[in-house]
Amino acid sequence: MSQVLTVGVGSHLTGAFTEAVGGDLVTLDAAQLDAAGGLLARIAEAGSPFVVVLGPDVPQDRAFPLAGRVDVALPGTSVVLVAEGGPELWVAAMRAGIRDVLGPDADPGDVAAVVRRAATLAAAHEEAGQHAATQADDHRVIVVASPQGGAGKTTVATNLAVGLARAAVGSTVLVDLDVQFGDVAGALAMTPEYTLPDTVQGAASYDPLVLKTFLGRHPSGLHVLAGSDSPAAGDAVTADQVGRLLDTLGREFRYVVVDTAPGLTAHTLTALEQATDLVLVSRLDVPGVRGMRKELDVLTELHLLPAARHLVLNAVESAGGLSTTDVEDTLGAPLDVVLPRHSAVPVSTNTGVPLLHGDNRDPVTRGLQAMVAGFLPTPIDRRGGLFGRRRVASR
Ligand SMILES: Nc1ncnc2c1ncn2[C@@H]1O[C@H](COP(=O)(O)OP(=O)(O)OP(=O)(O)O)[C@@H](O)[C@H]1O
Ligand SMILES: [Mg+2]
Repeated sequence: MSQVLTVGVGSHLTGAFTEAVGGDLVTLDAAQLDAAGGLLARIAEAGSPFVVVLGPDVPQDRAFPLAGRVDVALPGTSVVLVAEGGPELWVAAMRAGIRDVLGPDADPGDVAAVVRRAATLAAAHEEAGQHAATQADDHRVIVVASPQGGAGKTTVATNLAVGLARAAVGSTVLVDLDVQFGDVAGALAMTPEYTLPDTVQGAASYDPLVLKTFLGRHPSGLHVLAGSDSPAAGDAVTADQVGRLLDTLGREFRYVVVDTAPGLTAHTLTALEQATDLVLVSRLDVPGVRGMRKELDVLTELHLLPAARHLVLNAVESAGGLSTTDVEDTLGAPLDVVLPRHSAVPVSTNTGVPLLHGDNRDPVTRGLQAMVAGFLPTPIDRRGGLFGRRRVASR
């Protein structure tokens, strides 16, 4: 591929561009624009250079529409116009999609600066394109829910999010949708400057860049959107606002992990509309497992059960009178992760240091690490199915 294509440019500027790109350019006469396919075909033949220079031999009333077409079709390609003129010409040129205007006598320094600007822009477009492709391929909205209070939703959500953030820098945001009593910030020992209600109004609600500045940053690299300062403020956030927020975050982050309140609140149902994954958590007791079964049934009826479901049994103790096989029979589906009761968890909750942020070796940490691996594009451990169907039953 050539870096520059010049069309109808005089020898002086052609020399300056040749120097700026070490001879890596294609030079055409204005008449060659009349060949089949016009300028876009010539750009393709030249190997999609990132600078196209339209010289004085290309009349302005032709150059402007040509630039507009390139601007729309090839946003990573900068069109440069060679012309004498003042601010009025500049304004008209910019409106037409021309990125730079050079005088016919521009010196090599100006030409090199134009090439540098165009190269930066082309690189930014390529990166944005790759980012979008990655998002489309790996994008996950993971909703952690449970019919029960205290089942371990926040423990699972925070650790899953920290694990994903550590595995892929800048990839993950954790959203606390337990709008009344959520304490994701406490579980991560963070004091948020902004909380959920701040992000659903004003500039943050429509500008993704502003929204990002409202997110807290955990030392693991995780972005965090804390719940609300008061139950009333949290309640004022509508399901529609939550839907728009998750939609925006889903376009900015590869992983959006959502912690929820017990049961199926309007906010949780809205999150499930966008979810790619449901992580359903229960304790090993009859009410918990029955609740899990009912929640799966209700979500199926509502057509809100995401394609990927991950069934987690948490804080399991051996002397419970109920076996994991009983649970699987009731649910009609295999459990993906079984996490034992372990003293490391309350220590983590109370100190605000997530299990996956340190080098803990306890079985709960190992089970959560296996979960994280199951969400990564190249799983670290996939022995025997989803999450490696890793059973963690010993202490
Ligand atoms: N595997 C475990 N072993 C021991 N304690 C645990 C375990 N999992 C969670 N806990 C403890 O149980 C309590 C509740 O956990 P957590 O906050 O994660 O549940 P939750 O489902 O988010 O609760 P809520 O419905 O109130 O939001 C915490 O104190 C936590 O430390
Ligand atoms: Mg919770």
